[in-house]
Amino acid sequence: MNAGIIGIGRYLPEKIMTNLDMEKIVDTSDEWIRTRTGIEERRLAEDNIDTSDMAYFAAQKALEDAGVTAEDLDMIIVATVTPDRPFPSVACMIQERLGAKKACAYDLSAACAGFMYGIINGKQFIENGDYKNVLVVGVEKLSKITDWNDRNTAVLFGDGAGAVVLGPVSENKGILSFELGADGTGAKHLYQDEYIIMNGREVFKFAVRQMGESAVNVIEKAGLSKEDVDFLVPHQANIRIMEAARERLELPIEKMSMTINKYGNTSAASIPISIVEEVENGRIKDGDVVVMVGFGGGLTWGAIAIRWGK
Ligand code: COA
Repeated sequence: MNAGIIGIGRYLPEKIMTNLDMEKIVDTSDEWIRTRTGIEERRLAEDNIDTSDMAYFAAQKALEDAGVTAEDLDMIIVATVTPDRPFPSVACMIQERLGAKKACAYDLSAACAGFMYGIINGKQFIENGDYKNVLVVGVEKLSKITDWNDRNTAVLFGDGAGAVVLGPVSENKGILSFELGADGTGAKHLYQDEYIIMNGREVFKFAVRQMGESAVNVIEKAGLSKEDVDFLVPHQANIRIMEAARERLELPIEKMSMTINKYGNTSAASIPISIVEEVENGRIKDGDVVVMVGFGGGLTWGAIAIRWGK
């Protein structure tokens, strides 16, 4: 039995904060942010919209797209480092709101790689035959833990949610291979105290190396070569990190998702938000080999090769 993505959805807050707005808050410039990160603007959730609200909105869309009712869900996994509160989990909060009565539910903390971890958690239960429909959400309200006086981090992040429904798919479709990893020795480079604390240069070096390596590894594990890859969806943290991964795969620029300019780094939400964007604009199509790759605090990383479609 192969597990694959059978439905997708996302939620992006309406409020847009541009780089020019950023200039009014910290000592920065539109030019610096664009050239060093690729970000032009980001979305920020209103005060009355918390992480569970965004997760719920994205989940509803993914269920609708999959043609799966909430009652059909066996499991809900929410990847987030910005839950409404330590417990109950965001997963339990949306289980109640969706009415997914029979689903077990838990949150997973793997920072920006969380969505990759979530997909691979869910895949196991489907492929061993225990469960049929698993909802995986990547969601963050990073604006809650952003130090708006720290220009090193404040310019980078945004809020949002992306969700997928995983289910059994036909033999030649679905998840082909994966790699998950962690290196706790790098925890000191990116963590939350009250706010996000980051050693940008160290994270950058790690990310450039790891994104490329993991992407190549999943292609090899799937028995494919670089030429077989139709589309790359990297975690949207910095355009220069994404470019390094793309170059490693020798892919032309039009075969890589680039949504960071509009949404900034939405951590666990960035890959599913980008997937929705690319499916909607027709750049990810049925039968395509898609490589997703992410990295984040922990340090953590994860990559997945998938043949798109049911
Ligand atoms: N506006 C203007 N200047 C800024 C700035 C901002 N928003 N943020 C930092 N700077 C300054 C720094 O203070 C530094 O000045 P200094 O040399 O006088 O100390 C200078 O810009 C250059 O810093 P440097 O770290 O070399 O810049 P960079 O080109 O590496 O870009 C990051 C910084 C943060 C964009 C980059 O390191 C990065 O993207 N790292 C990875 C971060 C990441 O992905 N985090 C999320 C993980 S999921």
